[in-house]
Amino acid sequence: MKLLIKNIKKLINVRDESPCRPLSGGELGVLPTIDNCYLLIEEGLISDYGTMGECDLQSLENMADKVIDAEGKMVFPSYCDSHTHLVYAGSREIEFMDKIRGLSYQEIARRGGGILNSVELLHNTSEDALYAQAKGRAEEIIAFGTGAVEIKSGYGLTLEDEIKMLRVAKRVDEQTPLTVKTTFLGAHAVPARYAGRKDEYVDEIVREMIPAVAAEGLADYVDIFCEEGFFSVEDSEKIFEAGIKYGMRPKVHANQMSFSGGVQVGVKYGARSVDHLEFTGEAEFEALKGSDTIPTLLPGATFFLEMDFAPARRMIECGLPVAIASNYNPGSCPCGDMKFMMALGCLKMKMFPEEVINAATINGAFAMDVNSSLGSITRGKVANVFVTKEVPSYEFLPYSFSTPLVDTVILNGEIVG
Ligand code: NIG
Repeated sequence: MKLLIKNIKKLINVRDESPCRPLSGGELGVLPTIDNCYLLIEEGLISDYGTMGECDLQSLENMADKVIDAEGKMVFPSYCDSHTHLVYAGSREIEFMDKIRGLSYQEIARRGGGILNSVELLHNTSEDALYAQAKGRAEEIIAFGTGAVEIKSGYGLTLEDEIKMLRVAKRVDEQTPLTVKTTFLGAHAVPARYAGRKDEYVDEIVREMIPAVAAEGLADYVDIFCEEGFFSVEDSEKIFEAGIKYGMRPKVHANQMSFSGGVQVGVKYGARSVDHLEFTGEAEFEALKGSDTIPTLLPGATFFLEMDFAPARRMIECGLPVAIASNYNPGSCPCGDMKFMMALGCLKMKMFPEEVINAATINGAFAMDVNSSLGSITRGKVANVFVTKEVPSYEFLPYSFSTPLVDTVILNGEIVG
């Protein structure tokens, strides 16, 4: 299949060479583009691009099986959403009411709500029903322009239910056009059956769950909610050591509600990313400098929980890379719209449009290890792109934060929406 997109007003994030490291500091503010151009897709891959003025349009059109005229429209690489909990059962709008009445996330969790509420809902949902719900969310984010997504477990908290979640995440990979990376998050909360005996639960994760998840090849990463009231730095060390032994690189829910030490322990164990980071300062920046760990910001959760936003500008000034992800989940961010996350990045974290676009595409790709095939318009990369509706500029996307602006979605070189 050969697909030609012609008359593109602006092709976004065009990189002849894919970067070999995540974009850091000032690099984040540089967004390479080409005006008035074409994009050629062959056998699922980006095969060529160039300006309309310099191409032989007739021969391009003759060779193409399909031609899209993108007059007035832009073409972006699909978003790479490197932190989600897309597989979950039901919803938690009842807690939304508690939240409106003034209860905090931790207070709701202490009353048996929060993550444990989703755990019970998931336990009572069959694998097929769970897949049907996840597929609906997958279709929703595809329509928003996402092409690759990381999906965590963590609403099972028993071996059986954690495996059920991860199998569903694998099905999303196999049966939808999304590229999926999976993360084992058994240490998301202490389940009711271990109330007051957290260490014994950590022991079960290390001795039973991690080996069983690895035996089925269900997870690329191992994650933990390193936070007061959830899991500690010491728990993180035990779980990371076990995960690494079984080939799972760490990720961390770090510094979301406090200076938890999550960033430092993540860096110490070579985490692929440390995510959330609302509570970060000089000690965390120092730990991250020179490391291979990507600070990943989840502004949708910060917005929904009405907290202070992560200090993105300071991170960029420190020369750090920054990725942005949606954190789509039923408790702290029931939203998987990466354009809205970019808008929050601009409005609430004072990032510039070039920075949020890079953070949501190429840096998101690094944060889930798909950067060699996704995240930019580069010859030879997988053709995951979206064509916008007619827009005046790329800044219009984060500016016009709720208007649907995706016109056509192309994943793996096929038009899927
Ligand atoms: O990333 N912080 C922990 N986990 C999720 C929220 C999960 C939930 O409340 O269901 C997050 O924000």
